[in-house]
Amino acid sequence: MSARESAHRVVAIDGPAASGKSSVARALAKQVGFNYVNSGAMYRAVTWYVLKNNVAPGDAAAIVRLLNNTRIDCTLADKGSRILIDDVDPTAHLCDDRVNEEVSLVSSVPRVREILVEKMRVLARDQDVVMEGRDIGSVVFPDTPYKFYIDASPDVRLRRRQAQGLRDQIAARDRADSSRRASPLIIAEDAHVIDSSNLTIEGVVGEIIGRLKMKGMEIS
Ligand code: DC
Repeated sequence: MSARESAHRVVAIDGPAASGKSSVARALAKQVGFNYVNSGAMYRAVTWYVLKNNVAPGDAAAIVRLLNNTRIDCTLADKGSRILIDDVDPTAHLCDDRVNEEVSLVSSVPRVREILVEKMRVLARDQDVVMEGRDIGSVVFPDTPYKFYIDASPDVRLRRRQAQGLRDQIAARDRADSSRRASPLIIAEDAHVIDSSNLTIEGVVGEIIGRLKMKGMEIS
């Protein structure tokens, strides 16, 4: 399915690691009554599965072979998204240190992206979604008129991760995510950029909603 076939509304929220986009996307989805989809969780789920099967995260051919024999189910439920890999729910492992370390590498494999992008488009086929990630506005839904790029200074992002009690080399991850060949993290030409360094979640959500209304979205 191509991005053009999605009949429903997609709000794309992209940005680097720990920019605040997850909190913003979740709060925004709740306020406008859309489903919240965290595409990073899908890449994390596949990374966990690759590691669980002792496949080297740098071995793209072995990852593709593994995924050829794996069922990945992505569904919407209770206004959020769920992922099952061969019937197993990986949610508890998505922020494991090993997953944090290897997710950029696994998500740079073009076939991994192809598989997951298709799943993302299917999720948005029948329902409205707020979807966050790195390439949602640039690649997954290039035709949506609702694109946002949330940024924050490196210091603020590091402090946010530490406050979550997570060990995460965000600078290294950003470098890898921005420099990979397949769908790197970029600011889509028509995205509205918000620096959240000195803003609250409510402040950012308020700015997005103002913008959505300006673009003619009806919000109840
Ligand atoms: O949003 P996050 O930090 O949980 O994402 C984890 C990783 O997944 C990120 O470092 C790169 C990858 N990712 C991606 O390549 N494309 C997306 N749309 C979302 C995430």
